[in-house]
Amino acid sequence: MFPTTLLTTLLLALSVAANPVLVDRSPVTLPISRRLNLTSVHNLVRHDQTRAKTLKLRGSARSGLDDRAVINEAVDNQAVTYVASVGVGSPATTYSLLIDTGSSNTWVGAGKAYVKTSTSVQTSNRVAVTYGSGSFSGTEFTDTVNLASGLTLTKQSIGVASRSTGFDGVDGILGIGPVALTEDTLSPATSSLIPTVTDNAFSQGIITSNLIGISFEPTTTEEIVNGELTWGGTDSSKFTGSISFISKTTTSPASEFWGINQSIRYGASNTILATTAGIVDTGTTLVLIATNAFTKYRTATGGVLDNNTGLLRLTSTQFSNLQSLFFIAGGATFELTANAQLFPRSLNTDIGGTAGSIYLIVNDLGSNSGEGLDFINGYTFLERFYSVFDTANKRVGFATTPFTTATTN
Ligand SMILES: *[C@@H]1O[C@H](CO)[C@@H](O)[C@H](O)[C@H]1NC(C)=O
Ligand SMILES: *[C@@H]1O[C@H](CO)[C@@H](O)[C@H](O)[C@H]1NC(C)=O
Ligand SMILES: *[C@@H]1O[C@H](CO)[C@@H](O)[C@H](O)[C@H]1NC(C)=O
Repeated sequence: MFPTTLLTTLLLALSVAANPVLVDRSPVTLPISRRLNLTSVHNLVRHDQTRAKTLKLRGSARSGLDDRAVINEAVDNQAVTYVASVGVGSPATTYSLLIDTGSSNTWVGAGKAYVKTSTSVQTSNRVAVTYGSGSFSGTEFTDTVNLASGLTLTKQSIGVASRSTGFDGVDGILGIGPVALTEDTLSPATSSLIPTVTDNAFSQGIITSNLIGISFEPTTTEEIVNGELTWGGTDSSKFTGSISFISKTTTSPASEFWGINQSIRYGASNTILATTAGIVDTGTTLVLIATNAFTKYRTATGGVLDNNTGLLRLTSTQFSNLQSLFFIAGGATFELTANAQLFPRSLNTDIGGTAGSIYLIVNDLGSNSGEGLDFINGYTFLERFYSVFDTANKRVGFATTPFTTATTN
């Protein structure tokens, strides 16, 4: 009895003593929750296509291919969002921020107003960004930003919005895209890049690798904590097997984002999209493929476009014949099963569909392939694969998870 108790006590003492050390060491993990707000968005497809168009234009403008920096497009509210609670200032005010791999500025003030504290320092710059789903403009501050326990950044540049559109229900954005996307967002300091939160976590020595690991899980309810963002490493409890890495593409405009080269095959041998550049993006709900590829997919599945949702709809017979969709990149193949191609049926009525109908999450990008951004692996893809955004080595990684082939929809 006595030795066991002693051992237990000793182990407890050790683990208590060890804990604070572990908490302070990179990587650092932040829970993120998925929020579905479809009250003002009756067309997921239009929302995603608008975002795709904006990203393409923004990427092209940055790379000098296109000088249209402003896009005149009706503003849609965010439909499906991943949100994290982030503290700014000291004492910190907590803001609900959208996690976005397709942009790189971090800003607050869309909902809850910015609260200045002793750590808040206003710079001489104004800051403005246009998104597919809205825009913001305001002033730049530097401040202390607390992303998670053990991850507090000092002198992080943040935008404080004086004007924002399209961000109802959230306070701003946590931009975790490549730093190059911050170029030209500041004025008068037009040429300087703004180090992202990930860059600062790395340069301030809080994390030892400049990368992010993201775990999303499929959900069938409107709001749930089912994601996790890890700074400085990956969380091996969230994936199975090893991570396959894919070099960032050099093809513009996909190269401005988390872009990769990838081909897509339906079933055993039906090539839907020949190898081409596209992006991985948490801010896009669906999996979007170039119009010519989508036409092939539609023919292969036999689906019809549903007027109410904008999604492809299958009969139950067509669904029982639905083949897997294979994404081939970096020499590895990632399989989206038939169930993974399905929109969660429990949410059909939320998007204006009919309960029990079968809708697919693969849709039309809105332009033909050959434009340098021919697909978007959006969150319905990322719910099935763990993803790694590796700034230091210019690569994106995917790994299977316990949900990759799960029947959830
Ligand atoms: C959902 O969107 C509506 C309309 O834009 C907005 O008023 C509401 O605050 C949003 N709700 C949440 C929970 O984000
Ligand atoms: C991606 O595809 C383009 C166009 O074919 C090619 O030039 C490039 O080498 C490929 N690989 C990467 C990593 O960009
Ligand atoms: C979709 O809407 C169009 C125009 O309103 C209509 O002509 C067509 O019949 C509708 N299709 C279906 C499948 O309901």
